Amino acid sequence: MNQLLPLYDVHPISIKLLKKGHPWIIKDKFTDKFQPRERFIVAKERRRPFSLLIHDPKHSNIKARVWSSSGDFGKLIKNFKKDLQQRIFKAIKKRQDLKIIEKRDNIFLIFGEADELPGIKATLLGDQVLIQFYSYFWENYEELVINNIIKTTNQVLNKDITKADVWIQYRADSSAQKKAPKSLDPNCSYKNIQVKEFGVLYNVQLGKLYDYGLYTDMASVRSHLEGIFKDSDSVLNLFSYTGAFSLYSLALGSKDVVSVDLSESYIQDLEENILLNEFDKDSHQSIIDSVENAMNHLNKENRVFDLIISDPPSSSSDKNKRSNALKDYEKLLPKMVKSLKPGGKIIAFLNTHKINRNKFRQKLEQIITENNFPLKITKTLKLAEDCPELRGFPEGSYLKGFILSHD
Ligand SMILES: C[S@@+](CC[C@H](N)C(=O)[O-])C[C@H]1O[C@@H](n2cnc3c(N)ncnc32)[C@H](O)[C@@H]1O
Repeated sequence: MNQLLPLYDVHPISIKLLKKGHPWIIKDKFTDKFQPRERFIVAKERRRPFSLLIHDPKHSNIKARVWSSSGDFGKLIKNFKKDLQQRIFKAIKKRQDLKIIEKRDNIFLIFGEADELPGIKATLLGDQVLIQFYSYFWENYEELVINNIIKTTNQVLNKDITKADVWIQYRADSSAQKKAPKSLDPNCSYKNIQVKEFGVLYNVQLGKLYDYGLYTDMASVRSHLEGIFKDSDSVLNLFSYTGAFSLYSLALGSKDVVSVDLSESYIQDLEENILLNEFDKDSHQSIIDSVENAMNHLNKENRVFDLIISDPPSSSSDKNKRSNALKDYEKLLPKMVKSLKPGGKIIAFLNTHKINRNKFRQKLEQIITENNFPLKITKTLKLAEDCPELRGFPEGSYLKGFILSHD
């Protein structure tokens, strides 16, 4: 049987990483030898089949992803379609077991590698389903994936999804042009829908932009912050995007919420979300500016808050500067401390797999120590629930957060 398998040598470092649970093979001189026509590749270690991979010759960087590291690879290739269906079922059943659908209708049905479905993410957004492919491999099985996600979602989560409710987006290559999701309904190119999360309504726009206006992964973090938001009368939301954290705090009774974002159109979306929920407009203030400028103003005005949230993009650029989020905390944290009430809390996020949790913690601790700030790290935040993590796969654990509590 082994002779029939498309056996290939891979880089010794790839073998080492695969053994630790990392599910990707990155382009190198070994992957250059993979035959483009092979859909499946078996990585070998000392002539023995080691890992069954799905092959993506079109991707500029991630050339293969692990399908299985155990079992009879010949049989697994033969049973691929059945196995795929079972994995989709298992992933969606997991969400049903979590019982999150009762609390929010924006949930990940499939979270890629951590659900043993490498390069596939699927999100339920109200009565729409967005399927995102991160690997071109899935072009070969697109129909099968779509049909199975629809069938399983309807069956397990008691939904009534049809093909016309499905949106497809390829996010395979960061070098490729960033395109908005496409509807499978030929007569529809754009839809504005509303989804509900912990009692709050959010506008979601499908077919307009690359992102749909709400970070579903953050919902898994928000659920762990309810108590803190309830205790905070005043909240400053830095890098607010369309305002998910601001709306959450208004819903939980905050009376003084300030949102800061560079983008006028995201702030406009945020304000529409406030209207949609019929929240008291006087409890909210929008600032369209860089966080740096906004903090300088707020500091000058001696504005203070019970809670400050900071969720910067991993690298951001305003008109004249490019910056990196970790380094920026050196300047930003002191400004946040100035605007923090005694006994208040800062929630600092970092949104990149390139810096690990320890390094982020060390950086925050270093800033706290050097400035003698009366702050302590009291809690760690990470992706949870419908966004499971996979050991040995830092790329999947990109979101890190710490709660810093004022003495
Ligand atoms: C990761 S998103 C924040 C997501 C948000 N916390 C949520 O959960 O919905 C980052 C946001 O920062 C904004 N941004 C980027 N650079 C900025 C800057 N220098 N000052 C203010 N906002 C900035 C972007 O427009 C974007 O909306």
